[in-house]
Amino acid sequence: MRVTMIGGGYVGLVSGACFAQFGMDVVVVEVDPKRLGALKAGAIPIFEPGLDALVAENVAAGRLSFTDDMDSALAGAEVVFIAVGTPTRRGDGHADLTYVYKAAEQVAQKLTSYAVIVTKSTVPVGTGRRVAEIMRATRPALDFDVASNPEFLREGSAIGDFMRPDRVVIGVESERAEAVLRTLYRPLFLIETPIVVTSIETAELIKYAANSFLAMKVTFINEVADLCEKVGADVHDVARGMGLDGRIGRKFLHAGPGFGGSCFPKDTLAMARIGQDAGAPQRLVETVVTVNDARKSTMARRVTQACGGSVRGKTIAVWGLTFKPETDDMRDAPAIPVVSRLVEEGAEIQAFDPEGMDQAKPLLPPSVTYCGDAIEAATGADVLVVLTEWNVFRAVSPARLESLMRGRVIVDLRNIFDPAAMRAAGFNYSSIGRALPPG
Ligand SMILES: NC(=O)c1ccc[n+]([C@@H]2O[C@H](COP(=O)([O-])OP(=O)(O)OC[C@H]3O[C@@H](n4cnc5c(N)ncnc54)[C@H](O)[C@@H]3O)[C@@H](O)[C@H]2O)c1
Repeated sequence: MRVTMIGGGYVGLVSGACFAQFGMDVVVVEVDPKRLGALKAGAIPIFEPGLDALVAENVAAGRLSFTDDMDSALAGAEVVFIAVGTPTRRGDGHADLTYVYKAAEQVAQKLTSYAVIVTKSTVPVGTGRRVAEIMRATRPALDFDVASNPEFLREGSAIGDFMRPDRVVIGVESERAEAVLRTLYRPLFLIETPIVVTSIETAELIKYAANSFLAMKVTFINEVADLCEKVGADVHDVARGMGLDGRIGRKFLHAGPGFGGSCFPKDTLAMARIGQDAGAPQRLVETVVTVNDARKSTMARRVTQACGGSVRGKTIAVWGLTFKPETDDMRDAPAIPVVSRLVEEGAEIQAFDPEGMDQAKPLLPPSVTYCGDAIEAATGADVLVVLTEWNVFRAVSPARLESLMRGRVIVDLRNIFDPAAMRAAGFNYSSIGRALPPG
């Protein structure tokens, strides 16, 4: 089957490479000359574990190619995925559908025969229908179906998530389109992946509802962590005690500095707007947005408080900048407000992130110093702030930190260290939701 993937970002590139691995003939269309240049030169423009080998294998096998030429990419295409960005629209919180609609127009102009046009991007309810209208208006005689196939992969484990998903959601309104998508996903059907077939509107809403629910879970445990700090409880134990209940589940109960990333912030905001527009306000989701925004902006205050009220003139080591480990994605990362605030208050920042520093540079104040590794960042620092829980940080012992750092303050916003061990090593250590017993 010939598949065209419009957009070669985190979702388009991973899905394209995985469909090629399933044996499909995949062309990825990418308009960003930097990303396309890298892909054509055999490099991967994003960091995603295992993606380089998967792409190389499928390019070598002749099943995966990259282009910016819509004519050749769409000639003979049977399925066209739209996997372009849907960022927050400036000013009102709605999803910006400019790239989706532009792609729909381009596809309508260049398609050569019947194809199923599938929206993989996360889009508000009604977008699939609008895509069909745009295509019909662009080329009234065109034979096509539209479908929705939201993507649930997570950056950092994207290939495994795509190859072994909990479910595949397919929103369709014709048997022909359903048959095409079932054929495409046959390898997953064979490993007994549930395939949820719905209307297009339902499929579109499933994605927002799922992401908003997960964001709500994170926000819930973050507020419980604040309560733990006040009442002398330990949020890890609370989360474990809650999560072992099968109705609740243990995932997404890790307290931290507030969620960031390319999906939760924009998808919760969009879900809130969709609810308001439809006259069914999603008040829980609206509150999640407000609570999480406030949380991210107060994290710098924790550092200031740990330093006795001021960070002016202090050298602060920052470990981790990306919104989570195993990605280079900096979109809406908590590091952005935290580092910016600390710089505003007069701190000198020595930062290290294993993969995200290139993406961080344009988003953080220019005075930030970027270090070659975690050890260099901690050397001579008055304070250490842990912002992302990369595994490499866990390996640094309290004794090593003691020998490297000038000061004794650690603010661990990801709970990667053992509070008792840090205290025993003489650190003024604070973390999230883990009140230290008196001693
Ligand atoms: N990143 C994730 O973890 C994730 C997970 C699930 C769903 N999603 C959703 O998938 C969509 C894509 O997300 P992403 O993270 O891959 O975004 P991204 O910004 O990394 O990638 C989008 C790519 O599309 C390209 N593009 C835009 N218009 C184009 C066009 N007309 N022709 C060809 N290329 C075009 C851009 O240059 C960019 O490289 C979003 O709606 C997002 O919400 C993302």
